[in-house]
Amino acid sequence: MTYTFPKDFLWGGATAANQFEGAYNIDGKGLSVQDVTPQGGIPAKPGDRNPLITEVPTEDNLKLEGIDFYHRYKEDIALFAEMGFKVFRLSIAWSRIFPNGDELEPNEAGLAFYDKVFDELDKYGIEPLVTLSHYETPLHLTRKYNGWASRDLIGFYERYVRTVFTRYKDKVKYWLTFNEVNSVLHAPFMSGGIATPVEELSKQDLYQAVHHELVASALATKVAHEINPDFMVGCMVIAMPAYPMSANPLDQLAVRDFENQNYLFSDIHARGKYPNYIKRFFKENDIEIDFAEGDAELLAEHTVDFISFSYYMSVAQAHNPEAYETGKGNILGGISNPFLEASEWGWQIDPVGLRLVLNDFYDRYQLPLFIVENGLGAKDVLVDGPDGPTVEDDYRIDYLQKHLVQVGEALQDGVELLGYTTWGCIDLVSASTAQLSKRYGFIYVDRNDDGTGTLARYKKKSFNWYKEVIATDGASLYK
Ligand code: BG6
Repeated sequence: MTYTFPKDFLWGGATAANQFEGAYNIDGKGLSVQDVTPQGGIPAKPGDRNPLITEVPTEDNLKLEGIDFYHRYKEDIALFAEMGFKVFRLSIAWSRIFPNGDELEPNEAGLAFYDKVFDELDKYGIEPLVTLSHYETPLHLTRKYNGWASRDLIGFYERYVRTVFTRYKDKVKYWLTFNEVNSVLHAPFMSGGIATPVEELSKQDLYQAVHHELVASALATKVAHEINPDFMVGCMVIAMPAYPMSANPLDQLAVRDFENQNYLFSDIHARGKYPNYIKRFFKENDIEIDFAEGDAELLAEHTVDFISFSYYMSVAQAHNPEAYETGKGNILGGISNPFLEASEWGWQIDPVGLRLVLNDFYDRYQLPLFIVENGLGAKDVLVDGPDGPTVEDDYRIDYLQKHLVQVGEALQDGVELLGYTTWGCIDLVSASTAQLSKRYGFIYVDRNDDGTGTLARYKKKSFNWYKEVIATDGASLYK
């Protein structure tokens, strides 16, 4: 059955500064945690518990040059416009605006860069969707303060967000406070700029860092609405539904425990207080969150306008996980589901899971939702096509088509959804593995894992496919 998506549905694509801008030390930009993690944000080898962190940026770090969006943004935005994008998700690199993170005055050259990008988007009527912190904590804040483990970061973050809200007051409407805010539990360095090795990081310190981010997010929401009441501020979480391995009630309990670890973040953002279920977990793990005066009120009074999330995969859970094969590649863990196939990186593909997530979030919060990441990382092969080099990426089209059909189902279920941005609409550097060969884009970028390549852009088959999806308001999905 054909379904037509709402006329005002925001179709588009998503990126993050550190994965595609390059220009890591240009025009006054300071270093971020990404500039010293050349192998990505998760441990590179089995047995390691922390990512590789270098003292200084090293040449093998593909993120330093990325795909050079910094100098090629006009060409890239023109391609997004050609596909018909209504929205483009990008992040502001915090260390372009405050190079060390704790300065009093911002770096004008950094601010001017994003002015140019927003103006270029405006030229084509593309709405920016801006992540304020996408795994990009300024490195100085990590080295001097231990990142979000320190309460000091709330003040530095407030200064930063106040600066960009004021500067782009009339250019940006949609803001996300922290990318995949729940990932700090699993990747404290990449996500929270916390330098303590995971084996030494206590649960107390980790959840206190979570608290600092949650308070900072509420504060950002408050400041945003003061600066422009029309701003729409969202939280952003990793959505990963879990299925029980069996009908054993204990497996269902394991599912609930896993899901509560994720819901914790959206619950506090949307409901304004810590949920009761976490109190028991805190008690059993000797965690006592230190609330400063005013924290509870901030959380309660400045809840988000919408919930956004990334969705790539689902997992299975059981009360006896050691009896099963563990899923690969994702930072949240979980068991492989025998009913699902996986990408080359072990991420299990589950379109129906997306419909479930949409319904669960909407039922839980009755707030508008926004899917701000979804896509397939795959190795593409460039071939000669009638119009020049291209990629026959039918596997990507298949993934996106099946997920979008489920989005259509959820819309018909009654879910309120603002839009959908595919991850890595142009090839960029992977966050977990720092590879360029893990490609997500509609646009192929000629750059390889060894750093070679011309950086030329080529349209993949999926480019025209997505263009038609947008032009037909989704109707072409059902051909
Ligand atoms: C999300 C992140 O986890 O997934 C992105 O927000 C990331 O930054 C994306 O790139 C895909 O993951 P990866 O590891 O394949 O790049």
